[in-house]
Amino acid sequence: MWREESAERSFRLVVFARLLSICEWVGVRAEDVKSTWSGRTTTTSHQLRVSTMAAFQLLFPLLVSCVAASAHPPRHLPPCQVVQMDVFCSDRSLRSAPDNLPPGVQMLDFSRNQVQNLTQETLAYHTSFHHLNLHSNKIHFIQPGLFKDMIDLKVLDLSRNHLNVFALSKINIGPLTAVKSLDLSSNGLYTGMSDYFLADSPSLETLSLNSNSITKIAQDTFSGSSSLTKISLHNNVILEIEDGAFDSLNHLTELDLSKNSITCITDFNLRNLEVLNLSKNSLELFQSTRSKDSYKLQCLDLSENKMHYFPLLPGKNVLKRLDVSRNQLQSINVTGSSGKQANVIFNYLRYLDMSYNQLQSLPESFFNSMRCLEVLNVSNNCIRSFSVTEEGFLQTVKIINLSYNSLQSLTFGENTLLLLEELFLQGNDLATLDHQIFQRLPSVRHLQLEQNNLQICASDQNHQDAEDCVSFTSMPNLQFLNLSENNLRTLPANAFANTPLKLLDLSLNPGLDMDKDSLSGLEHSLVHLLLRENNISNLNTDLSSLRGLKHIDLSTNQLTTLPMWNKESSIESLNLQNNNLVTLEYSTMLALEHSLKTLYMGSNPLSCCSNLGFLHMVQHSGVVVPDIETVTCVHEEYSEPVNIEKVTQEMCHRAGVQNYIIAVVLTALLLMIVLGLLVKCCQSRKRKHNRSFSA
Ligand SMILES: *[C@@H]1O[C@H](CO)[C@@H](O)[C@H](O)[C@H]1NC(C)=O
Ligand SMILES: *[C@@H]1O[C@H](CO)[C@@H](O)[C@H](O)[C@H]1NC(C)=O
Ligand SMILES: *[C@@H]1O[C@H](CO)[C@@H](O)[C@H](O)[C@H]1NC(C)=O
Ligand SMILES: *[C@@H]1O[C@H](CO)[C@@H](O)[C@H](O)[C@H]1NC(C)=O
Ligand SMILES: *[C@@H]1O[C@H](CO)[C@@H](O)[C@H](O)[C@H]1NC(C)=O
Ligand SMILES: *[C@@H]1O[C@H](CO)[C@@H](O)[C@H](O)[C@H]1NC(C)=O
Repeated sequence: MWREESAERSFRLVVFARLLSICEWVGVRAEDVKSTWSGRTTTTSHQLRVSTMAAFQLLFPLLVSCVAASAHPPRHLPPCQVVQMDVFCSDRSLRSAPDNLPPGVQMLDFSRNQVQNLTQETLAYHTSFHHLNLHSNKIHFIQPGLFKDMIDLKVLDLSRNHLNVFALSKINIGPLTAVKSLDLSSNGLYTGMSDYFLADSPSLETLSLNSNSITKIAQDTFSGSSSLTKISLHNNVILEIEDGAFDSLNHLTELDLSKNSITCITDFNLRNLEVLNLSKNSLELFQSTRSKDSYKLQCLDLSENKMHYFPLLPGKNVLKRLDVSRNQLQSINVTGSSGKQANVIFNYLRYLDMSYNQLQSLPESFFNSMRCLEVLNVSNNCIRSFSVTEEGFLQTVKIINLSYNSLQSLTFGENTLLLLEELFLQGNDLATLDHQIFQRLPSVRHLQLEQNNLQICASDQNHQDAEDCVSFTSMPNLQFLNLSENNLRTLPANAFANTPLKLLDLSLNPGLDMDKDSLSGLEHSLVHLLLRENNISNLNTDLSSLRGLKHIDLSTNQLTTLPMWNKESSIESLNLQNNNLVTLEYSTMLALEHSLKTLYMGSNPLSCCSNLGFLHMVQHSGVVVPDIETVTCVHEEYSEPVNIEKVTQEMCHRAGVQNYIIAVVLTALLLMIVLGLLVKCCQSRKRKHNRSFSA
């Protein structure tokens, strides 16, 4: 039965989709049509059949039907869908469930309807539900005891209703006998109102009270729901949590208090809690009780608060993830007065985010106990110096983010960061570093050094050389290197020898003097090369030997000629925007044509008539020129630059055409003269003949 219905429905949907697009075009709101389409299926599909006959005939009836559709209120909506024991009635403007629900119905999706008064009648006297979804209705009353006999009801979603109105009547909804998951989010509930729903809910495990207006969690708020394991109170206005409010909840493992107004947590003592989210509050202080008990907390999110001091965490913890980003930490001290450093043991910590604070320094001893740390984010602070020298420190770290600090000094000892894969150092003041500092990171794959003041050593440069520079040779795993905006002056020969770079960004180093062999060694690895805004007028580095190169950005330079490429190149995207190119060598363009897919060419003083080969390529090959609107060329007969798409062969062959016309005219003249002569000659002979005849 259901399959038939769905087939019919999908047909209707096709018709509807077509009707919709035409109605939209005609300018009628789609929703107006949607609300009546099912009731008018026959007429509209008939009209569509007619419409296929003639485009003009199609418009008028549709316009009429669209307007008619918008004029009448909704009549019939498609019936609910039944799939085995599950019934789907979402979004059908219903006030109560249809009478013909299958007996034993288990799941009822009744979301987005018009239920106001939730009673046995609304649910057609069924009690067999396992899952009842009533979100986004207008429920302001629930018949007390309604759920008492629903002994299988596990999931109840009442989010986005008006249950604050019900709570004002101070009536309990009665026992939630078997309900394990209850969603009361977005119901305008304020403090104390949740009591009428939770008073008798012995099986409840998951509760959402998100997006209400609760200001206080009282001591007895959850006393009727002692099986709770997960509570979400995100997006309320909680200012106060009474002592012991969560104490009776022995199974509570997850508590989300994010986006509230909590200012201070002292004596945190929920030993069984595993996940605590306090992000986006106004916390100035987080302190756990100073006890020797062990805590099960694994994930603590304190981001976006106002903490000046590092949180005081339980001594015995299994914390894996700690987020204190976007606070006001100035040091890692846990309190102001004693100046004590966080000397908690972090044996299990994997992820530590302290970004967006005001940290000035990060003493090495801080990492003393972090034997499992994998991600360290301390970006956007004011750290001037970072060093890891103690052997065995931070040996498991894979990612360190030190971007946007004030780093001037950076030191890594031998055998420290052996597993480090990604290092972010952009936006610092690094100028002088140990020449071989990066060679001490054997696993590093990704290195971001943009916006610093570094210089690159020549491969054979003696370490005692006076010039300060860093070396990038012989880094066996380095694939990504960003050195843009460093005021790099030179790029010496073999700068990346024995380093299998895939991406190299050297942009925004104006005046960079690249050695002819600077990129040698990268022939087979390099795929992306960026040389944007470098004021290059003549690229003397040989790019044609970079066989793997696919993407190259040469935009905003002073190039007057294309780099040399041959048939072996595999360039797929080429950016030549904003250079000084007048003529593009046709042989190079031909060599590129077989692999090129995207070409940026705008803002160049191209000559129209000396680039007909390029023109042909743009017009006839598959190359996409995304900035074609800005690709113009100069033609002597036009005062303004001409868009390259408007250039025709004839514009450049006008002189030839004129010659051709002259030649044709001359030939015609000649022919006429010859003909004239011939005619004359014939006539004279005829006359002679006539004469002889008459004689
Ligand atoms: C809800 O419906 C019940 C039963 O039909 C009725 O007794 C009650 O007055 C109604 N309540 C409201 C607020 O409409
Ligand atoms: C904590 O809540 C915030 C805001 O709702 C959310 O963005 C963040 O992902 C949550 N943190 C964790 C660890 O789930
Ligand atoms: C480094 O940290 C900044 C801010 O903390 C963040 O925006 C950026 O995504 C991080 N980088 C990576 C690669 O995680
Ligand atoms: C810090 O860096 C980590 C890892 O790169 C990233 O996942 C996180 O989003 C960053 N934190 C912020 C606040 O951007
Ligand atoms: C390199 O860093 C610059 C910032 O200077 C950024 O704009 C660019 O996108 C980065 N390059 C790559 C390939 O990510
Ligand atoms: C760019 O190069 C030209 C010479 O080719 C030079 O006159 C100009 O000063 C350079 N500009 C910058 C910003 O380096």
